[in-house]
Amino acid sequence: MKTILQSIETMNFNIDEPGIWSKETGIVEIAKAEFALNTKNKTFASKHFTHPDCLFKNTYKMRKSFIALFFGILFISLQVKSQNEPLAILLTWTEDPTTTITIDWHTAENQSQQLFFREKGKEKWEVESGNTHPFPFSDRFVHRTALAGLNPGASYELKFGKYDKVYFFNTMPASAALQPIRIAIGGDTMHEKKMLERTNKQVLNYEPHFVIMGGDMAYENGDAKAVEKVHNWFDACKKTLITKDNRIIPIVVGIGNHEVAGGYYSPEKFSGNSEDREKYAPYFFSLYAFPGQPGYNVLDFGNYLSLFILDTGHTNPIEGAQTDWLATELNKRRNFTHIVPVYHIPAYPSVRDFNGSRSEEVRRNWVPLFEKHNVKIAFENHDHAYKRTFPIKENTIDEKGIVFVGDGAWGVRVREVHDVDETWYLKKALSQRHFILLTLQGNHQQLTVINKEGEIIDAYPEFEKF
Ligand SMILES: [Fe+2]
Repeated sequence: MKTILQSIETMNFNIDEPGIWSKETGIVEIAKAEFALNTKNKTFASKHFTHPDCLFKNTYKMRKSFIALFFGILFISLQVKSQNEPLAILLTWTEDPTTTITIDWHTAENQSQQLFFREKGKEKWEVESGNTHPFPFSDRFVHRTALAGLNPGASYELKFGKYDKVYFFNTMPASAALQPIRIAIGGDTMHEKKMLERTNKQVLNYEPHFVIMGGDMAYENGDAKAVEKVHNWFDACKKTLITKDNRIIPIVVGIGNHEVAGGYYSPEKFSGNSEDREKYAPYFFSLYAFPGQPGYNVLDFGNYLSLFILDTGHTNPIEGAQTDWLATELNKRRNFTHIVPVYHIPAYPSVRDFNGSRSEEVRRNWVPLFEKHNVKIAFENHDHAYKRTFPIKENTIDEKGIVFVGDGAWGVRVREVHDVDETWYLKKALSQRHFILLTLQGNHQQLTVINKEGEIIDAYPEFEKF
C-alpha cells in the first residue's frame, strides 16, 4: 500500500512538470504505467511519463485512461489489503466463553498455520497451532484452534499465520451481576449478501458481546453448487461484524432447514450417525465448531447463562433422544440465572400455520420442559417476520409464562404476518427485517428490537411507547 501511495505521489509530481505532460498534447504513457503498477514497479512514473513511444493526443482519452488507472490502483489496493488478512474469520465457543474461545480462519493454503495471541498490554506473542480441514466444495481451507485458561472479561489480541493484521476479542465476563451482557439474536440471515450486511451494521452499532443466529444462515441447502453463498456469508460477517478497532464479535449458530439438503430429518435419510448428518448438512458441520455433532448442544457461561441451541427436526428428530437430552441437561442447570433456548422453527408462528407438525412437536416436547425450568424468553425463527407473544403457560396466556420472540428476518425478504387481533398468542407481529438485542443484567432480561434502518420497533418488558 505504501508503495502504491508513493507511486501516486511520484506520478502527480511528474504530471505537473512542464514539458512532460500538457492539456494540449496529453502526452503520457498510461499502458506502461498500468503495467508498471501491476508489477509493483516503484518508479514507473519517472520511467514512463517521459517515454516517447506512446502518445495520447486528446484529453478525452486522457480522462478515460486515468479512470482506468484509478480503478487499477483501487484493485491493487484491495488485493494488498486482502493479502494482509485471512479470507474469513469466525470466533465461537465450544466451552465456557468466560475462559475459552474457538477460532477459525479461512485461507487458500492447505498447510497447518499458527495462531499468535497475547493478552492486551503484554508484549510477547504466544503461539498455538491450528488444525486444518477443507472448506466443503471450495478451494479454501479452514484452520481451527481453541484457546483455554483465559482470564474472564479480558481482551486478547490475535494474528493469523502469515498475516500481519492484529485483531482482538474479549472473553465473556465472569458474571452478569456487575455489567450488562448484550447479545444480538435473530435468524434467517441472507437472501442477499447486502441484506445481511445491512442488519449486521445495525448490530455493530450496539457492540454486542456476541451474536446468535438461529438457523438459515446462507441458504445453501447443503448444495455443492451453492458454495459461493457460503463464501459471501463469511465475507459479509468479516466486513460488518468486526468493530472499527478490530474487535471480532463471536457468532453462535443453530441449524435451520436451509443448512440441510432436503431441509428435514427423515429416518430414511439419517441412520443417526454423524456421517449422515455431515453428508446432508456439509457446510454446517464443517464450518461451525458449535453446536457440532449431533446438531444440538448447550453452552454454559460461568453459572449465569446457559444457552441451549436446538435442532427443530433438520438433522435430528425433535422427539426422542434430543428431548431426553434436553430434560437431563436442564435438570443439571437449576442453579443458572438465565436459561435461554434458541431454535429455528417456532412453537408460536407469526406467519405459518399454528398446527404445523414441527411447531406442534416443539410445543408438546420442549415447551413443558422450558416451563419447568424457569425459561423466561424463547427465541424462534423461520417465518421471516418479527413477533412477540404474550407470556404463555400450558398453552394459555399467563403472566407467569414464557414469551416467544422471533421470527427470523435478519437478512431475508419478509412475509405477511397473522392478524394480531385474531391470533390469541400474538402480542405483536410486524413484517420487518430486524435483530433482537437481549440484555442480561443480574437476573433481569430486557429485549430491544432494532430494524434494518436502526429504529427501535419493540421492547420487552414494554416501554410506554410499545
Ligand atoms: Fe427456515
